[in-house]
Amino acid sequence: MQSQKIDQIKAEIAAANAKSAEELEAYRMRFISKKSVVAALFADMKSIPNEQKKEYGQQVNEVKQLAEEKFKQLIEAVNTSRQQKTGPLPDLTLPPTTWPIGGIHPLTATRQRIVEIFERIGFNLSEGPEIEDDWHNFTALNFPENHPAREMQDTFFIEKNPDIALRTHTSSVQVRVMENEKPPIRTLSPGRVFRNEAISARAHCIFHQVEGLYVDENVSFANLKQTLYHFAKEMFGKQTQVRFRPSFFPFTEPSAEIDISCQLCGGKGCNICKGTGWVEIGGSGMVDPNVLENCGIDSEKYTGFAFGMGIERIAMLKYQINDLRLFTENDIRFLQQFRGLL
Ligand code: DAH
Repeated sequence: MQSQKIDQIKAEIAAANAKSAEELEAYRMRFISKKSVVAALFADMKSIPNEQKKEYGQQVNEVKQLAEEKFKQLIEAVNTSRQQKTGPLPDLTLPPTTWPIGGIHPLTATRQRIVEIFERIGFNLSEGPEIEDDWHNFTALNFPENHPAREMQDTFFIEKNPDIALRTHTSSVQVRVMENEKPPIRTLSPGRVFRNEAISARAHCIFHQVEGLYVDENVSFANLKQTLYHFAKEMFGKQTQVRFRPSFFPFTEPSAEIDISCQLCGGKGCNICKGTGWVEIGGSGMVDPNVLENCGIDSEKYTGFAFGMGIERIAMLKYQINDLRLFTENDIRFLQQFRGLL
């Protein structure tokens, strides 16, 4: 009886095969583990008459050895076939391969640099919503009823509701800050703005601005100029010249456009500055007393200056980028050039 069983198990071991880790495990369970048929043979020892115990024990030990040898062979075979499929294991002592990691987007880096410069001279950060009402985007900023900027061609209105639109500039945040805080106010508001314009190398319907606002007693145009001189030299380098050109904005009086000396030709004249030696980076001026009053600030007691600059424009000048569309195309060859900017 027992020897029949033993012969059968031996035959089974001889015929066993394994091509995968799963099959190997199945073999182990059947012939090697504590619950294996071989272990069961050892357990049967109890019921073997004493005089046969010795011979039986020898036979069972032989089966055990056979099972273990076969197991080794099968492990070898599975490993070899795995290596044939995947090649040899790599040298595990080699240093790890580095995975490519992302970098900071040039616009983010530029915004961060602008914020840093103004934070160091006492400006805090403020934000406002991208979906804005007419009051904060236009009316409180002294835009007359029929100002062209309010028209559909410039402004994206929400569901044809003339009162709700995507903000066309970050000047709307000025209004929100002045409504909610008392002077002295020194704040910087970077953010996304929207205009209904065709996309080209020089224009986009979504872009970024940074708004600055300083309201206190005795704030003067000289303060505005000095602040922007400081900014331009910190951002673009000590040699940078700044020029204020008289201009008009409904929310400032007087108003000026801010030009800096061309970063490419150093002011000699090239095709970036169209031969003038100067490039515009934004608008500025003294906050119109009407705007202060609209926001509940006493315009007899307080004065203020404000400015708004294009972040794309500043990045383009700083890094000599000639097409606005590059910022949003996510071309990795473009973006990779700005690795490690921050
Ligand atoms: N909001 C203006 C624009 O988008 C830029 C600007 C001009 C902002 C003058 C200002 C300012 O704060 O004083 O074109």
